[in-house]
Amino acid sequence: MNIPESLYWRNNELYLLDQRLLPAQEEYIRQSGIEDVWCSINTLAVRGAPAIGIAAAYGSLTGLHKNFSLSAEDFGNKYISQAEYLITSRPTAVNLSYTLNIMINVCRKSVADSAEKLYTELEAQASALHNEDIEMNRMIGVYGAELISNGCRILTHCNAGAMASTGIGTALAPVYTAHKKGIKLSVYADETRPLLQGARITVWELMKAGVETTLVCDNMAADLMSRGMVDLVIVGCDRVAANGDTANKIGTHTLAVTARHFGIPFYIAAPSSSIDQKTVNGAGIIIEQRAQEEVTAFGVCITAPDGVKVYNPSFDVTPNSLITGFITEKGRITPPYDFSGGV
Ligand code: MRU
Repeated sequence: MNIPESLYWRNNELYLLDQRLLPAQEEYIRQSGIEDVWCSINTLAVRGAPAIGIAAAYGSLTGLHKNFSLSAEDFGNKYISQAEYLITSRPTAVNLSYTLNIMINVCRKSVADSAEKLYTELEAQASALHNEDIEMNRMIGVYGAELISNGCRILTHCNAGAMASTGIGTALAPVYTAHKKGIKLSVYADETRPLLQGARITVWELMKAGVETTLVCDNMAADLMSRGMVDLVIVGCDRVAANGDTANKIGTHTLAVTARHFGIPFYIAAPSSSIDQKTVNGAGIIIEQRAQEEVTAFGVCITAPDGVKVYNPSFDVTPNSLITGFITEKGRITPPYDFSGGV
């Protein structure tokens, strides 16, 4: 697809494509310690729910290959404290605790009699989670592409593409799959204030893949829809509660309300790693609040008076009633939603 990987693990080291620099620079940064990984997730060098889950799975191993002289038990305790620390790097995407809890369980259940053997088991688990993510993306692409026919115009928000995962993405997976099949389609990408993941990242990767793309501001959706210019909305998710209420990038809820008003299908692409069976509904989802400077400036340019009060939630929750369906790796799901037993 001609899109670089969001991350890779080589010789006991994690490398992340620094998404803060896109689209101006394509630069991989090596993670030199666990604090580095925490900071890269927290400051969005790596971002998008599935990508941060996989970055955390590998990242939790950072530096541990230098501790093979420890007993397996001490090594395991050190591993668990690193993994638990990474879970605190961002609160909303459930993928972080999804991957790290699997890693911690492997550590707790291991009967390895040396630190090195335990490390090998953990590394194999991180790699298995990575392969699982790639495969879930692929299958979301297969099931989602069934919604796309010739001439389809799709609106998306934020970035739920290759950069937000380790494969072909979630919301963009159907787009890439249909495009590869030769279906003629086009995408409207919301710019996604305040951090512009749509303008900087979605547009960048769609253009690299040769998909016809139009950048729009976040406040243009109703205008586009009222003119009959949108056939389908597909977005990603950071956490889906058991009843289908879905947290995703701030602005998703507005888009869902608008799509419902104009009778346009509104789909969430959701790998099972983003489904939180334990959270009953959207009210239980913790929404990350981010720094006010993200809103009072546009890049380096100050755009609001000093001292203004700012509200800057990174995500909102779209109620299940506004969601036409979920595209998961196992197929499409329509209401009534009940994810309490998985997908
Ligand atoms: O703050 P971000 O850039 O990590 O937010 C990302 C999103 O909201 C994505 O839509 C979501 O994580 C799904 S990514 C497949």
